[in-house]
Amino acid sequence: SPDLPLDMVIFGGGGDLSARKLLPALYMAHLHGALPKQTRILAIGRQDWTRERYLEFVETKSRPFIEPKALSNDAWQAFLSIFEYVKIDVTSAADYQRLATVSAGDVQRVFYLATSPELFTQICDGLSSAGLVDARARVVLEKPLGHDLASAQEINNDVGRYFAEPQIYRIDHYLGKETVQNLMVLRFGNALFGPLWQAPYIKSVQITVAESVGVGSRAGFYDHTGALRDMVQNHLLQLLCIVAMEPPVSLDSDAVRDEKLKVLRSLRKMSSTDLARDTVRGQYAAGAVGGEPVKGYLQEDGVPAESGTETFVALKVQIDNWRWANVPFFLRTGKRLAKRQSEIVIEFADLPFSIIPDGPSDRSNRLVIRLQPEESIQLQMMAKEPGSGMQMLPVSLSLDLEQASTLRRPEAYERLLIDVVRGRLTHFMRRDELEAAWTWVEPILNGWAQSNDRPRQYTAGTWGPAASSALMARYNMTWSEEN
Ligand code: BG6
Repeated sequence: SPDLPLDMVIFGGGGDLSARKLLPALYMAHLHGALPKQTRILAIGRQDWTRERYLEFVETKSRPFIEPKALSNDAWQAFLSIFEYVKIDVTSAADYQRLATVSAGDVQRVFYLATSPELFTQICDGLSSAGLVDARARVVLEKPLGHDLASAQEINNDVGRYFAEPQIYRIDHYLGKETVQNLMVLRFGNALFGPLWQAPYIKSVQITVAESVGVGSRAGFYDHTGALRDMVQNHLLQLLCIVAMEPPVSLDSDAVRDEKLKVLRSLRKMSSTDLARDTVRGQYAAGAVGGEPVKGYLQEDGVPAESGTETFVALKVQIDNWRWANVPFFLRTGKRLAKRQSEIVIEFADLPFSIIPDGPSDRSNRLVIRLQPEESIQLQMMAKEPGSGMQMLPVSLSLDLEQASTLRRPEAYERLLIDVVRGRLTHFMRRDELEAAWTWVEPILNGWAQSNDRPRQYTAGTWGPAASSALMARYNMTWSEEN
């Protein structure tokens, strides 16, 4: 209810995610009046800090991540005034009583668990024993939600003992990105694409999430995780679902999530032959990104010298259903690639017959949906080259989404946090969705673990190992951008 006071309780309040993403997002939401009038942010941490000490953290660690043009002294002071800091050792039942004292009365509580998932059960139990979990409470779960199916189920079971499914917000920040949400409008708000959005009119789909950054200071987490768990299991599969799902009957959360679930359940399970032929794992070696020399993964701080963790994955995926029979989906993600660039490329079928002999041999129409760094949509097509004769000229219809509206484009976390506050679940993963994603990913993890192959090396600053291009070549395709 909009009038009810809100207590946004952040476990891991002194952590990196809070500093870089959550607090800047809350600042923007606060600045734009998107939070209830009486909102408080209750930051939870284990450090024995005063409120002033915590505000110092916000000032030094979080403020730099807010775009300068949105910062004013008044707005910043107003934002700081809504904070409280509560010291809780999450393993100590008695500590939760302190939170109950601070967060008393008739309030809407949102618990954001930005901690390691090993702590989720204890936190839920502590909150519940202190009487803080009522029917109105909501809980936001940050990834990684498990490292395999069993651990994901365990988290779901544990949290499910305290919160009902509609109170649980499993966050995947890709679902908060403007272009990702726009994909639904592109598909379901335009009559144009509907009839073409299926086999045999689509020849292939490519989904790339390329990063130029390396593992940074997260080796401790990343080395146990790898690119398949860190990016494919969640972000890339979610993008695939939005591209591939049937039209939902409405935008209701369950209507949308039902359709995504069906896609996940239609993913063809990888056999050992598929694994060898259609998956590539890579690991970056020293190289250069943007002209600067960078270390290889094995030389990064905190990475074991022999680590076999993949920092790159390429996969060919089949969706076994009526719409997508025989249409290959190629997924690719990696760190230390040539540039930060995420895009979805829909390649339409070849011309049935060519009556125009002159021009490029590649005449495919492609719809390129660029998510990052800039948001754009391009439709690549053929036109006539001016002059006498009939020669085809590749051209593109190009839409710069940032120019299409003057309205502000909030960051993913801001939009998703506002969704949590308003009780909108559409852009969050439901339990069965998460488990279906793990069910499909697990045989790949197991297959890789059983083979003794090390990930293939690729030079930092390139588009990944040669095997990634070779995978495409086996299907007579190329990645849309490789140089
Ligand atoms: C996170 C991963 O979920 O997504 C990171 O854990 C990755 O490894 C990040 O860098 C990418 O997000 P974005 O929004 O920068 O594309």
